[in-house]
Amino acid sequence: MLKTHGCGELRLDHVGEAVTLAGWVNRRRDMGGVIFIDLRDFSGKIQVVADSGRTIEAFEAAEQIRSEYVLQVKGTVQRRMEGQENPNLPTGAVEVIAAEVIVLNPSKVTPIEIAKDAGEDESLRLKYRYLDLRREKMQRNILIRHKAVKYIRDFLDARGFIEIETPILFKSTPEGARDYLVPSRVHPGKFYALPQSPQQLKQLLMVAGYERYFQIARCFRDEDQRADRQPEFTQLDMEISFVERDDVLDLIEEMMVGMAKTVSIVPLAWEAFPRLSFKEAMERFGTDRPDLRFGMELVDLSDIMANSAFRVFAENVRDGKPVKAICAKGCGGYSRKQTGELEEIARTHGAKGLAWLAIHPETGEIRGPIAKFFTTEQLAAIMDRMEAEPGDLVLISSDKRSMVYNVLGEMRMEMGRRLGLTAKKELAFCWVIDFPLFEEEVVDGHFAPSHHMFTAPKQEHIHLLDTEPGQVLSEQYDLVCNGFEVAGGSIRIHDRPLQRKIMELIGFSIEEAKDQFGHMLEAFEYGAPPHGGIAPGIDRVVALMAGEPNIREVMAFPKNQNATDLMADAPSVVSKKQMDELHIQPAGKAVVK
Ligand code: AMO
Ligand code: AMP
Repeated sequence: MLKTHGCGELRLDHVGEAVTLAGWVNRRRDMGGVIFIDLRDFSGKIQVVADSGRTIEAFEAAEQIRSEYVLQVKGTVQRRMEGQENPNLPTGAVEVIAAEVIVLNPSKVTPIEIAKDAGEDESLRLKYRYLDLRREKMQRNILIRHKAVKYIRDFLDARGFIEIETPILFKSTPEGARDYLVPSRVHPGKFYALPQSPQQLKQLLMVAGYERYFQIARCFRDEDQRADRQPEFTQLDMEISFVERDDVLDLIEEMMVGMAKTVSIVPLAWEAFPRLSFKEAMERFGTDRPDLRFGMELVDLSDIMANSAFRVFAENVRDGKPVKAICAKGCGGYSRKQTGELEEIARTHGAKGLAWLAIHPETGEIRGPIAKFFTTEQLAAIMDRMEAEPGDLVLISSDKRSMVYNVLGEMRMEMGRRLGLTAKKELAFCWVIDFPLFEEEVVDGHFAPSHHMFTAPKQEHIHLLDTEPGQVLSEQYDLVCNGFEVAGGSIRIHDRPLQRKIMELIGFSIEEAKDQFGHMLEAFEYGAPPHGGIAPGIDRVVALMAGEPNIREVMAFPKNQNATDLMADAPSVVSKKQMDELHIQPAGKAVVK
């Protein structure tokens, strides 16, 4: 090795030792006669001193160097002078007196500064990702990710799971997103699909008798990008035979708690994850991925509104549309402009309006455009139900139930952000269970699966499939943390007639089902064991545990919001010859080399 120690390893114990270091110049300070270099490698930073009064050659070499030069430094560790220690640096009690400074490689001036985060545009960081990744925070994040995955592998290995790789070139899999397709050269006009998840393959592994499977699996989904979505991402994909729902929940809970305690820089809010039914999550938080770091729960005001003089609400209640509200603490002083802004946000989520009542912080007077429609008693009843105090703001929505949930769920998060409640550094995990088997909306008489088509209905609800499919609850479960869905899974259907029935309800003809899933349907006829599984999204879990707001911060080479790799410039134009070989014709505006 070109070094005897890592820069970040040196401590008082090393004082007096001759060391050889190698790394990058994080920063260089010329004090005239003495040059200080912060030398950085993956292990950390150390102060190197090139003193003209001691070794003129080292000093002269240090005069030539600039930030991000790669150096080898030979020298001696010494205790820093009293008052010169840096308590913020693990190596801050010592420094290395350079005897020799060798430039292993110079560097151009970097387009982003490595030593400090100057808040550059993210596109610049992504274009020079290899420089961005040199930064301390990114190296910390990538290390947390490594430790998280190692924790998972050790944890599951100790419990009898084995890791099995499944193909990337496969067939379209139904997770509800668009597929990435790969044209086949040898089969003109045919395509592989990159897996949206290894769902079918892991179920086939259960049929094959591998009772405890896992994989750190790359998944591909062509969907619109968001802070928590990437076109390719990583799942801890798992499947277990002869398992019941609570076995899966308990196992994952134990793993998440252990992982958080081992790798997370954000503490757990609690170790026993609350379990909410889908219905309860929607009623209390307006969403199936509630952020439990704060309350501000949805409260029903329908009964009070039914008898009020505000016609919109009274009529809605008569039509079975609820009136619900949240109470934003301390926002009672909002101006008309500010409440107007909130109403605008509500409208972008589909609301017809957003009513509000504010209690004056001192006088206790209640104001708002609809205040005049209520009697003093009604206002008192509303505020009492809302547990609202002087200085609070009550935001009210009325519409069909799903819209009220959506609007108030979003408003709750908006007010949570404004009040700093979502900035709380803790991991508030919860399970959401008892999902409906199908999505609420029925398109062309067909149902869309809430999770995916292999999810089992609850045993006691199977008889409803013929009469009221919309009422059937399933064996789906989601793990949620701080408002993000971090894992999804279910107990599966292992019985062919039931699987066929679900496919029919979803709108697959027998031919289509055979064409796309013939291998699954057939496999289920050869003794498929009862089984179930789950897939935590590694990127999301690690982002939460690293305290990062988006998953790109914990991925080495992510794509931007436009699904582009700005560093390598992918996707890119290919040659006419390549396209011909793949039997692909350039379409529309396509450019071909
Ligand atoms: P699901 O589609 O719910 O389930 O995905 C499981 C988890 O994967 C993560 N995830 C994503 N992360 C980043 N970018 C994306 N585009 C993205 N999409 C999903 C989320 C999500 O909770 N086969 C089933 C699992 C099963 O039933 O066992 C599946 O893929 O954290
Ligand atoms: P209007 O009677 O239309 O002037 O509305 C009075 C207030 O009630 C406004 O602040 C509207 O945004 C609000 N409002 C109207 N309809 C609804 C609704 N369906 N849900 C919530 N607020 C509403």
